Amino acid sequence: MAQNWTPGSWRQKPIQQVPEYPDAAALAATEATLATYPPLVFAGEARRLKKQLANVAEGNAFLLQGGDCAESFLEHGADNIRDFFRAFLQMAVVLTYGAQLPVVKVGRIAGQFAKPRSSNVEVLDGVTLPSYRGDIINGIEFNEGSRIPSPERQLDAYRQSAATLNLLRAFAMGGYANLENVHQWMLGFIKDSPQADRYRKLADRISETMDFMKAIGISAENNPSLRETDFFTSHEALLLGYEEALTRIDSTSGDWYATSGHMIWIGDRTRQLDHAHVEYFRGIKNPIGLKCGPSLTPDNLIELIDALNPANEAGRLTLICRFGHDKVADSLPKLIRAVEKEGRKVVWSCDPMHGNTITLNHYKTRPFERILSEVESFFQIHRAEGTHPGGIHIEMTGKDVTECTGGARAVTADSLSDRYHTHCDPRLNADQALELAFLLSERMKSGRDEKRLAIANA
Ligand code: TRP
Ligand code: MN
Repeated sequence: MAQNWTPGSWRQKPIQQVPEYPDAAALAATEATLATYPPLVFAGEARRLKKQLANVAEGNAFLLQGGDCAESFLEHGADNIRDFFRAFLQMAVVLTYGAQLPVVKVGRIAGQFAKPRSSNVEVLDGVTLPSYRGDIINGIEFNEGSRIPSPERQLDAYRQSAATLNLLRAFAMGGYANLENVHQWMLGFIKDSPQADRYRKLADRISETMDFMKAIGISAENNPSLRETDFFTSHEALLLGYEEALTRIDSTSGDWYATSGHMIWIGDRTRQLDHAHVEYFRGIKNPIGLKCGPSLTPDNLIELIDALNPANEAGRLTLICRFGHDKVADSLPKLIRAVEKEGRKVVWSCDPMHGNTITLNHYKTRPFERILSEVESFFQIHRAEGTHPGGIHIEMTGKDVTECTGGARAVTADSLSDRYHTHCDPRLNADQALELAFLLSERMKSGRDEKRLAIANA
Protein backbone atom coordinates (compact mmCIF):
# COMPACT_ATOMS: atom_id res chain seq x y z
CA MET A 1 0.00 0.00 0.00
CA ALA A 2 2.60 2.54 1.14
CA GLN A 3 4.74 2.15 -2.00
CA ASN A 4 2.06 3.86 -4.14
CA TRP A 5 1.98 6.98 -2.06
CA THR A 6 2.93 10.37 -3.51
CA PRO A 7 2.13 13.85 -2.17
CA GLY A 8 -0.65 13.91 -4.79
CA SER A 9 -1.99 10.35 -4.52
CA TRP A 10 -4.92 11.66 -2.46
CA ARG A 11 -6.32 13.10 -5.73
CA GLN A 12 -7.35 9.57 -6.81
CA LYS A 13 -9.56 9.12 -3.73
CA PRO A 14 -13.05 10.27 -2.80
CA ILE A 15 -12.91 13.46 -0.76
CA GLN A 16 -15.19 15.42 1.60
CA GLN A 17 -15.31 19.16 2.25
CA VAL A 18 -13.75 20.41 -1.01
CA PRO A 19 -14.38 23.99 -2.07
CA GLU A 20 -15.61 24.58 -5.62
CA TYR A 21 -13.00 26.80 -7.22
CA PRO A 22 -14.50 28.30 -10.39
CA ASP A 23 -11.16 28.49 -12.21
CA ALA A 24 -9.22 25.20 -12.11
CA ALA A 25 -6.28 26.65 -14.05
CA ALA A 26 -5.87 29.53 -11.61
CA LEU A 27 -5.95 27.07 -8.71
CA ALA A 28 -3.28 24.88 -10.33
CA ALA A 29 -1.12 27.94 -11.02
CA THR A 30 -1.35 29.04 -7.37
CA GLU A 31 -0.46 25.57 -6.14
CA ALA A 32 2.53 25.53 -8.51
CA THR A 33 3.66 28.90 -7.10
CA LEU A 34 3.31 27.66 -3.52
CA ALA A 35 5.38 24.62 -4.38
CA THR A 36 8.33 26.94 -5.09
CA TYR A 37 8.07 28.75 -1.71
CA PRO A 38 10.33 27.81 1.21
CA PRO A 39 8.96 25.36 3.77
CA LEU A 40 7.45 26.99 6.87
CA VAL A 41 8.90 24.43 9.25
CA PHE A 42 11.93 22.19 9.13
CA ALA A 43 11.62 18.39 9.31
CA GLY A 44 14.06 18.24 12.23
CA GLU A 45 11.63 20.33 14.29
CA ALA A 46 8.76 17.98 13.48
CA ARG A 47 10.93 15.06 14.62
CA ARG A 48 11.72 16.89 17.84
CA LEU A 49 8.01 17.36 18.51
CA LYS A 50 7.39 13.69 17.71
CA LYS A 51 9.97 12.74 20.33
CA GLN A 52 8.29 14.97 22.90
CA LEU A 53 4.93 13.42 22.04
CA ALA A 54 6.44 9.94 22.43
CA ASN A 55 7.17 11.03 25.99
CA VAL A 56 3.50 11.92 26.37
CA ALA A 57 2.43 8.53 24.95
CA GLU A 58 4.64 6.87 27.55
CA GLY A 59 3.05 8.82 30.40
CA ASN A 60 6.02 11.12 31.05
CA ALA A 61 4.77 14.42 29.69
CA PHE A 62 1.55 16.34 29.09
CA LEU A 63 0.36 17.93 25.84
CA LEU A 64 -1.13 21.42 25.75
CA GLN A 65 -2.56 22.25 22.33
CA GLY A 66 -4.66 25.34 21.73
CA GLY A 67 -5.45 28.45 19.77
CA ASP A 68 -8.11 29.98 17.57
CA CYS A 69 -10.85 27.92 16.00
CA ALA A 70 -9.97 29.75 12.79
CA GLU A 71 -7.27 32.35 12.26
CA SER A 72 -8.37 35.37 10.26
CA PHE A 73 -6.63 37.72 7.84
CA LEU A 74 -8.29 40.74 9.39
CA GLU A 75 -7.11 40.06 12.92
CA HIS A 76 -3.53 39.32 12.01
CA GLY A 77 -1.37 41.48 14.25
CA ALA A 78 1.38 41.41 16.82
CA ASP A 79 -0.96 42.13 19.74
CA ASN A 80 -3.17 39.16 19.06
CA ILE A 81 -0.24 36.81 18.70
CA ARG A 82 1.43 38.16 21.84
CA ASP A 83 -1.73 37.99 23.94
CA PHE A 84 -2.42 34.44 22.84
CA PHE A 85 1.16 33.37 23.57
CA ARG A 86 1.05 35.03 26.96
CA ALA A 87 -2.12 33.21 28.02
CA PHE A 88 -0.87 29.95 26.58
CA LEU A 89 2.45 30.11 28.44
CA GLN A 90 0.73 30.86 31.72
CA MET A 91 -1.40 27.76 31.24
CA ALA A 92 1.76 25.80 30.48
CA VAL A 93 3.48 26.86 33.70
CA VAL A 94 0.46 26.06 35.84
CA LEU A 95 0.08 22.66 34.17
CA THR A 96 3.78 21.86 34.43
CA TYR A 97 3.57 22.46 38.16
CA GLY A 98 0.35 20.49 38.58
CA ALA A 99 1.47 17.51 36.54
CA GLN A 100 5.10 17.72 37.68
CA LEU A 101 5.80 16.72 34.09
CA PRO A 102 7.13 18.56 31.04
CA VAL A 103 4.36 20.22 29.05
CA VAL A 104 4.60 19.87 25.27
CA LYS A 105 3.45 23.17 23.79
CA VAL A 106 1.59 23.12 20.48
CA GLY A 107 -0.38 26.10 19.17
CA ARG A 108 -3.39 25.88 16.85
CA ILE A 109 -1.78 28.71 14.98
CA ALA A 110 0.27 29.80 11.94
CA GLY A 111 -1.83 27.74 9.52
CA GLN A 112 -5.25 27.14 11.09
CA PHE A 113 -7.30 28.65 8.26
CA ALA A 114 -9.48 25.99 6.60
CA LYS A 115 -12.79 24.99 8.17
CA PRO A 116 -14.99 21.95 7.54
CA ARG A 117 -18.67 22.90 7.44
CA SER A 118 -21.79 20.93 8.23
CA SER A 119 -23.65 22.51 5.30
CA ASN A 120 -22.44 23.65 1.86
CA VAL A 121 -24.70 26.68 2.01
CA GLU A 122 -25.70 29.34 4.48
CA VAL A 123 -29.15 30.92 4.38
CA LEU A 124 -29.73 34.43 5.72
CA ASP A 125 -32.96 36.43 5.27
CA GLY A 126 -34.00 34.19 2.39
CA VAL A 127 -30.65 34.54 0.59
CA THR A 128 -28.64 31.34 0.01
CA LEU A 129 -24.86 31.57 -0.43
CA PRO A 130 -21.97 29.08 -0.26
CA SER A 131 -20.78 28.59 3.33
CA TYR A 132 -17.71 30.37 4.65
CA ARG A 133 -14.87 27.81 4.68
CA GLY A 134 -12.08 29.80 6.31
CA ASP A 135 -9.96 32.73 5.11
CA ILE A 136 -7.66 30.46 3.09
CA ILE A 137 -10.67 29.62 0.87
CA ASN A 138 -13.29 32.41 0.84
CA GLY A 139 -14.43 35.50 2.71
CA ILE A 140 -16.69 35.60 5.77
CA GLU A 141 -18.74 38.59 4.51
CA PHE A 142 -22.20 37.49 3.48
CA ASN A 143 -22.18 38.45 -0.20
CA GLU A 144 -21.81 36.47 -3.36
CA GLY A 145 -18.41 37.81 -4.37
CA SER A 146 -16.71 37.10 -1.09
CA ARG A 147 -18.04 33.56 -0.86
CA ILE A 148 -16.49 32.48 -4.17
CA PRO A 149 -13.36 30.44 -3.39
CA SER A 150 -10.24 32.33 -4.49
CA PRO A 151 -6.84 30.60 -4.92
CA GLU A 152 -4.92 33.79 -4.12
CA ARG A 153 -6.04 33.44 -0.53
CA GLN A 154 -3.70 30.46 -0.20
CA LEU A 155 -0.73 32.75 -0.83
CA ASP A 156 -2.00 35.18 1.80
CA ALA A 157 -2.44 32.32 4.28
CA TYR A 158 1.10 31.18 3.58
CA ARG A 159 2.48 34.69 4.19
CA GLN A 160 0.47 35.16 7.36
CA SER A 161 1.64 31.78 8.64
CA ALA A 162 5.26 32.68 7.92
CA ALA A 163 4.98 36.02 9.72
CA THR A 164 3.16 34.51 12.69
CA LEU A 165 5.68 31.72 13.01
CA ASN A 166 8.51 34.20 12.83
CA LEU A 167 7.17 36.19 15.77
CA LEU A 168 6.41 33.07 17.79
CA ARG A 169 9.93 31.77 17.31
CA ALA A 170 11.29 35.13 18.46
CA PHE A 171 9.05 35.10 21.55
CA ALA A 172 9.92 31.49 22.40
CA MET A 173 13.69 31.91 22.07
CA GLY A 174 14.33 35.63 22.50
CA GLY A 175 13.50 36.14 26.18
CA TYR A 176 9.75 36.77 26.20
CA ALA A 177 9.05 33.22 27.39
CA ASN A 178 11.33 33.63 30.42
CA LEU A 179 9.77 31.62 33.23
CA GLU A 180 10.12 34.52 35.65
CA ASN A 181 8.10 36.79 33.34
CA VAL A 182 5.42 34.19 32.89
CA HIS A 183 5.22 33.71 36.62
CA GLN A 184 4.77 37.47 37.18
CA TRP A 185 1.93 37.58 34.62
CA MET A 186 0.27 34.71 36.42
CA LEU A 187 0.50 36.49 39.78
CA GLY A 188 -1.12 39.51 38.12
CA PHE A 189 -3.94 37.35 36.87
CA ILE A 190 -4.55 35.87 40.31
CA LYS A 191 -4.56 39.22 42.04
CA ASP A 192 -7.52 40.31 39.90
CA SER A 193 -9.36 37.02 39.84
CA PRO A 194 -12.58 36.47 41.80
CA GLN A 195 -11.10 33.04 42.51
CA ALA A 196 -7.87 34.50 43.94
CA ASP A 197 -8.05 32.60 47.22
CA ARG A 198 -8.50 29.32 45.48
CA TYR A 199 -5.45 29.77 43.24
CA ARG A 200 -3.17 31.50 45.71
CA LYS A 201 -1.92 28.30 47.36
CA LEU A 202 -0.74 26.84 44.12
CA ALA A 203 0.77 30.14 43.00
CA ASP A 204 2.61 30.51 46.32
CA ARG A 205 4.15 27.09 45.87
CA ILE A 206 5.37 28.01 42.42
CA SER A 207 6.78 31.29 43.82
CA GLU A 208 8.62 29.40 46.55
CA THR A 209 10.04 26.95 44.03
CA MET A 210 11.30 29.82 41.90
CA ASP A 211 12.84 31.57 44.91
CA PHE A 212 14.50 28.35 46.01
CA MET A 213 16.01 27.84 42.56
CA LYS A 214 17.30 31.39 42.58
CA ALA A 215 18.82 30.89 46.03
CA ILE A 216 20.84 27.93 44.84
CA GLY A 217 22.05 29.79 41.79
CA ILE A 218 19.72 28.54 39.05
CA SER A 219 18.56 31.60 37.15
CA ALA A 220 17.44 32.55 33.67
CA GLU A 221 20.78 34.27 33.07
CA ASN A 222 22.80 31.12 33.55
CA ASN A 223 20.21 28.59 32.44
CA PRO A 224 18.70 28.72 28.94
CA SER A 225 15.96 26.23 29.83
CA LEU A 226 14.46 28.86 32.15
CA ARG A 227 14.28 31.56 29.50
CA GLU A 228 13.52 29.53 26.35
CA THR A 229 10.79 27.14 25.41
CA ASP A 230 9.95 24.80 22.54
CA PHE A 231 6.78 26.01 20.88
CA PHE A 232 5.28 24.12 17.94
CA THR A 233 2.52 24.89 15.42
CA SER A 234 -0.41 22.79 14.24
CA HIS A 235 -3.58 22.99 12.19
CA GLU A 236 -6.25 20.85 10.57
CA ALA A 237 -4.83 19.89 7.16
CA LEU A 238 -8.15 20.14 5.37
CA LEU A 239 -7.16 21.87 2.13
CA LEU A 240 -5.03 19.15 0.58
CA GLY A 241 -3.92 21.09 -2.51
CA TYR A 242 -2.23 23.62 -0.22
CA GLU A 243 -0.73 20.86 1.91
CA GLU A 244 0.55 18.98 -1.14
CA ALA A 245 2.33 22.10 -2.42
CA LEU A 246 4.15 22.37 0.92
CA THR A 247 4.99 18.67 1.18
CA ARG A 248 8.74 18.30 0.78
CA ILE A 249 11.43 15.65 0.97
CA ASP A 250 13.68 16.13 3.97
CA SER A 251 17.20 15.97 2.64
CA THR A 252 18.61 14.60 5.89
CA SER A 253 16.31 11.55 6.07
CA GLY A 254 14.89 11.22 2.54
CA ASP A 255 11.36 11.19 4.02
CA TRP A 256 8.35 13.29 3.04
CA TYR A 257 7.18 15.94 5.50
CA ALA A 258 4.29 18.34 5.58
CA THR A 259 6.08 21.66 6.05
CA SER A 260 2.99 23.84 6.57
CA GLY A 261 3.23 23.23 10.34
CA HIS A 262 4.91 20.87 12.80
CA MET A 263 1.83 18.80 13.52
CA ILE A 264 -1.33 18.48 11.44
CA TRP A 265 -4.55 16.67 12.18
CA ILE A 266 -7.46 14.99 10.38
CA GLY A 267 -10.91 16.30 11.27
CA ASP A 268 -13.78 14.17 12.51
CA ARG A 269 -15.63 14.79 9.23
CA THR A 270 -12.81 13.71 6.91
CA ARG A 271 -11.41 10.58 8.58
CA GLN A 272 -12.95 7.96 6.22
CA LEU A 273 -10.42 5.14 5.85
CA ASP A 274 -10.36 4.96 2.03
CA HIS A 275 -10.71 8.71 1.40
CA ALA A 276 -8.29 11.45 0.44
CA HIS A 277 -7.28 12.82 3.87
CA VAL A 278 -6.20 9.49 5.32
CA GLU A 279 -4.35 8.81 2.06
CA TYR A 280 -2.40 12.07 2.31
CA PHE A 281 -1.59 11.69 6.00
CA ARG A 282 -0.29 8.12 5.78
CA GLY A 283 2.66 9.21 3.61
CA ILE A 284 4.06 12.08 5.64
CA LYS A 285 6.31 11.58 8.64
CA ASN A 286 5.13 14.43 10.88
CA PRO A 287 3.42 13.80 14.18
CA ILE A 288 -0.28 13.78 13.34
CA GLY A 289 -3.61 14.03 15.13
CA LEU A 290 -6.90 12.27 14.51
CA LYS A 291 -10.12 13.81 15.79
CA CYS A 292 -12.31 11.16 17.39
CA GLY A 293 -16.04 11.88 17.72
CA PRO A 294 -18.95 9.77 18.97
CA SER A 295 -19.45 8.04 15.59
CA LEU A 296 -16.00 6.41 15.70
CA THR A 297 -16.21 2.70 16.56
CA PRO A 298 -13.34 0.74 18.15
CA ASP A 299 -12.91 -1.30 14.93
CA ASN A 300 -12.83 1.89 12.82
CA LEU A 301 -10.22 3.30 15.12
CA ILE A 302 -7.92 0.28 14.94
CA GLU A 303 -8.18 0.27 11.11
CA LEU A 304 -7.28 3.95 11.06
CA ILE A 305 -4.33 3.34 13.38
CA ASP A 306 -3.18 0.52 11.06
CA ALA A 307 -3.26 2.93 8.13
CA LEU A 308 -1.75 5.95 9.91
CA ASN A 309 0.77 4.40 12.26
CA PRO A 310 1.59 0.92 10.94
CA ALA A 311 4.99 0.88 12.69
CA ASN A 312 3.33 1.65 16.05
CA GLU A 313 5.71 4.51 16.60
CA ALA A 314 5.10 6.37 19.87
CA GLY A 315 4.52 10.11 19.26
CA ARG A 316 3.31 9.66 15.68
CA LEU A 317 -0.41 9.63 16.49
CA THR A 318 -2.43 11.76 18.89
CA LEU A 319 -6.09 10.84 19.34
CA ILE A 320 -7.97 14.06 19.97
CA CYS A 321 -11.22 13.02 21.62
CA ARG A 322 -14.23 15.33 21.21
CA PHE A 323 -17.29 13.55 22.43
CA GLY A 324 -19.28 16.02 24.52
CA HIS A 325 -19.67 16.10 28.30
CA ASP A 326 -22.68 13.76 28.13
CA LYS A 327 -21.18 11.26 25.68
CA VAL A 328 -17.60 10.86 26.84
CA ALA A 329 -18.42 8.18 29.43
CA ASP A 330 -20.11 6.14 26.74
CA SER A 331 -17.61 6.63 23.93
CA LEU A 332 -14.14 6.81 25.44
CA PRO A 333 -13.71 3.59 27.52
CA LYS A 334 -14.36 1.26 24.60
CA LEU A 335 -11.82 3.06 22.42
CA ILE A 336 -9.21 2.95 25.19
CA ARG A 337 -9.80 -0.76 25.70
CA ALA A 338 -9.46 -1.53 21.99
CA VAL A 339 -6.21 0.43 21.77
CA GLU A 340 -4.83 -1.22 24.92
CA LYS A 341 -5.84 -4.69 23.79
CA GLU A 342 -4.03 -4.18 20.48
CA GLY A 343 -1.03 -2.66 22.22
CA ARG A 344 -1.09 0.54 20.16
CA LYS A 345 0.99 3.51 21.27
CA VAL A 346 -1.01 6.71 21.12
CA VAL A 347 -1.35 10.03 22.87
CA TRP A 348 -4.81 10.50 24.36
CA SER A 349 -5.86 14.12 24.25
CA CYS A 350 -9.16 15.70 25.26
CA ASP A 351 -10.85 18.33 23.11
CA PRO A 352 -13.63 19.50 25.44
CA MET A 353 -14.79 22.20 23.03
CA HIS A 354 -16.32 20.66 19.92
CA GLY A 355 -18.77 18.27 21.55
CA ASN A 356 -20.18 20.99 23.80
CA THR A 357 -21.47 23.64 21.41
CA ILE A 358 -25.00 24.98 21.93
CA THR A 359 -26.98 27.97 20.67
CA LEU A 360 -28.07 30.71 23.10
CA ASN A 361 -29.68 33.98 21.98
CA HIS A 362 -28.69 33.10 18.40
CA TYR A 363 -25.03 32.78 19.43
CA LYS A 364 -23.06 29.57 19.14
CA THR A 365 -21.58 29.14 22.60
CA ARG A 366 -20.06 26.60 24.98
CA PRO A 367 -20.80 26.54 28.69
CA PHE A 368 -17.60 26.52 30.73
CA GLU A 369 -19.11 23.95 33.15
CA ARG A 370 -19.61 21.47 30.32
CA ILE A 371 -16.04 21.99 29.11
CA LEU A 372 -14.77 21.32 32.63
CA SER A 373 -17.07 18.37 33.00
CA GLU A 374 -15.75 16.69 29.83
CA VAL A 375 -12.14 17.20 30.94
CA GLU A 376 -12.97 15.83 34.41
CA SER A 377 -14.59 12.73 32.91
CA PHE A 378 -11.65 12.25 30.57
CA PHE A 379 -9.26 12.21 33.54
CA GLN A 380 -11.48 9.91 35.62
CA ILE A 381 -11.90 7.43 32.78
CA HIS A 382 -8.17 7.25 32.16
CA ARG A 383 -7.52 6.75 35.84
CA ALA A 384 -10.05 3.91 35.90
CA GLU A 385 -8.54 2.30 32.79
CA GLY A 386 -4.97 2.73 34.02
CA THR A 387 -3.98 4.83 30.99
CA HIS A 388 -2.38 8.26 30.72
CA PRO A 389 -4.66 11.28 30.14
CA GLY A 390 -2.04 12.78 27.87
CA GLY A 391 -3.29 16.25 27.10
CA ILE A 392 -5.90 18.80 26.21
CA HIS A 393 -6.81 20.51 22.95
CA ILE A 394 -8.71 23.77 23.33
CA GLU A 395 -9.98 26.74 21.36
CA MET A 396 -8.80 29.88 23.12
CA THR A 397 -7.64 33.44 22.65
CA GLY A 398 -5.57 35.82 24.73
CA LYS A 399 -8.28 38.46 24.44
CA ASP A 400 -11.14 39.21 26.80
CA VAL A 401 -13.90 37.93 24.49
CA THR A 402 -17.39 36.80 25.51
CA GLU A 403 -17.91 33.66 23.49
CA CYS A 404 -18.15 30.81 26.03
CA THR A 405 -20.53 31.27 28.96
CA GLY A 406 -19.47 30.81 32.59
CA GLY A 407 -16.12 30.99 34.34
CA ALA A 408 -15.21 32.88 37.48
CA ARG A 409 -16.05 36.22 35.88
CA ALA A 410 -19.27 34.72 34.64
CA VAL A 411 -20.07 35.44 31.01
CA THR A 412 -23.86 35.18 30.80
CA ALA A 413 -26.16 34.39 27.88
CA ASP A 414 -27.01 38.10 27.72
CA SER A 415 -23.41 39.28 27.64
CA LEU A 416 -22.41 37.04 24.72
CA SER A 417 -23.04 39.92 22.33
CA ASP A 418 -20.56 42.25 24.14
CA ARG A 419 -17.34 40.96 22.60
CA TYR A 420 -18.22 38.01 20.38
CA HIS A 421 -15.43 38.15 17.79
CA THR A 422 -14.74 34.62 16.63
CA HIS A 423 -14.69 33.78 12.92
CA CYS A 424 -15.96 30.34 13.67
CA ASP A 425 -16.44 28.53 17.00
CA PRO A 426 -16.59 30.14 20.47
CA ARG A 427 -13.23 30.27 22.26
CA LEU A 428 -12.21 30.40 25.91
CA ASN A 429 -11.05 33.90 26.79
CA ALA A 430 -7.73 34.41 28.59
CA ASP A 431 -9.31 34.20 32.07
CA GLN A 432 -11.31 31.11 31.28
CA ALA A 433 -8.28 29.41 29.73
CA LEU A 434 -6.12 30.07 32.77
CA GLU A 435 -8.91 29.03 35.08
CA LEU A 436 -9.12 25.73 33.24
CA ALA A 437 -5.38 25.27 33.72
CA PHE A 438 -5.65 25.94 37.48
CA LEU A 439 -8.53 23.53 37.91
CA LEU A 440 -6.71 20.84 35.95
CA SER A 441 -3.53 21.48 37.84
CA GLU A 442 -5.33 21.04 41.18
CA ARG A 443 -6.79 17.81 39.89
CA MET A 444 -3.45 16.45 38.74
CA LYS A 445 -1.85 17.40 42.02
CA SER A 446 -4.49 15.63 44.08
CA GLY A 447 -4.06 12.60 41.80
CA ARG A 448 -0.36 12.58 42.65
CA ASP A 449 -1.01 13.01 46.37
CA GLU A 450 -3.40 10.04 46.31
CA LYS A 451 -0.83 7.88 44.57
CA ARG A 452 1.85 8.86 47.07
CA LEU A 453 -0.45 8.09 49.99
CA ALA A 454 -1.31 4.70 48.51
CA ILE A 455 2.41 3.88 48.18
CA ALA A 456 3.15 5.07 51.72
CA ASN A 457 0.32 2.95 53.13
CA ALA A 458 1.18 -0.16 51.14
N1 TRP B 1 12.07 25.41 29.12
C1 TRP B 1 11.09 24.91 30.05
C2 TRP B 1 9.81 24.50 29.32
O1 TRP B 1 9.61 24.93 28.21
C3 TRP B 1 10.73 25.94 31.14
C4 TRP B 1 10.07 27.18 30.65
C5 TRP B 1 10.68 28.33 30.27
C6 TRP B 1 8.67 27.39 30.55
N2 TRP B 1 9.73 29.26 29.92
C7 TRP B 1 8.49 28.71 30.08
C8 TRP B 1 7.57 26.59 30.83
C9 TRP B 1 7.21 29.20 29.85
C10 TRP B 1 6.32 27.10 30.59
C11 TRP B 1 6.13 28.39 30.11
O2 TRP B 1 9.02 23.77 29.84
MN1 MN C 1 -13.64 24.78 15.98
